Amino acid sequence: MMSWTGPQVHDKTMSGPAIDVTAQQTMPLTPTQRAAWDRDGYLVLTAFKPAAEVAAACARAAEIVDAFVPDAGSSRFSTRDRGLVADAALLASADQVHCFFEEEALDDAGRLRVPKAQSVNKIGHALHERDPIFDAFSHGPALAALAAEVGLTQPQVWQSQLIFKQPQIGGEVGWHQDASFFVTDPITVTTFWFALEDATLDNGCLWVQPGGHRGPLRERYVCEQGRLRMQALSDAPWPDTATALALPVPAGTLVLFHGLLPHYSAANRSPRSRLAYTLHVTDGRATYAATNWLQRTPALPVRGL
Ligand code: FE2
Repeated sequence: MMSWTGPQVHDKTMSGPAIDVTAQQTMPLTPTQRAAWDRDGYLVLTAFKPAAEVAAACARAAEIVDAFVPDAGSSRFSTRDRGLVADAALLASADQVHCFFEEEALDDAGRLRVPKAQSVNKIGHALHERDPIFDAFSHGPALAALAAEVGLTQPQVWQSQLIFKQPQIGGEVGWHQDASFFVTDPITVTTFWFALEDATLDNGCLWVQPGGHRGPLRERYVCEQGRLRMQALSDAPWPDTATALALPVPAGTLVLFHGLLPHYSAANRSPRSRLAYTLHVTDGRATYAATNWLQRTPALPVRGL
């Protein structure tokens, strides 16, 4: 009988539920890969993106940060009514390209306390619509075919994010399910998580609970009258790093995971950043909740892959 004395680490040299496949092998997925998806709730697709495309995405991310000027909206993250202003900033970013700073990157006057290149927590949430480089990165037949393989018959791409996980200061992202933020009936949201830099145990790679997508949705993020709150739905416990699986992956890897799959990433205390790019995609045949924080208007309707 197999027993684990410490954190599990996904590695090609050990047997386990994760499967490495290359982009050339994924269209269509093999029966083994399909079975792994159904059983585990995620797939690790190494070398999904060519190095040149990854390099272009990294360069564009740096350009966006360089061009971004902290303004009154950014600085207001530090004002007394933090919650209300933070909610408004998030909602306003739904169809924009907006830099969100690390919590302590700005002083009370909105001035940067650290170099700008190291100050950004994430950029969201419509890079895939507003930026030509990320538009190209986020669309195309390879992604559309993969989406169809996992049941997204009418894919709708609601959100894109660049997540920096900055060296030394990149924060932990606690256990959660992405379906909390993109509720559909039935639940269909699927996460496309692209490593733009190597993700390691030291710089905050993903951790997942294999098979955890068969559990309940534990909470949902609700927007009502412009205020955001997390609503508890289930007291099912979250996994911990003693039983979960770490997914260190090289740049260019796509980790595809089910919206109900519990996942987590540790703080980055290493000298290396861990830049990732994510897309959240639902199936247009399912009803998208009116209380989801991210809504689109006719000015920028949601579209597919
Ligand atoms: Fe997530």
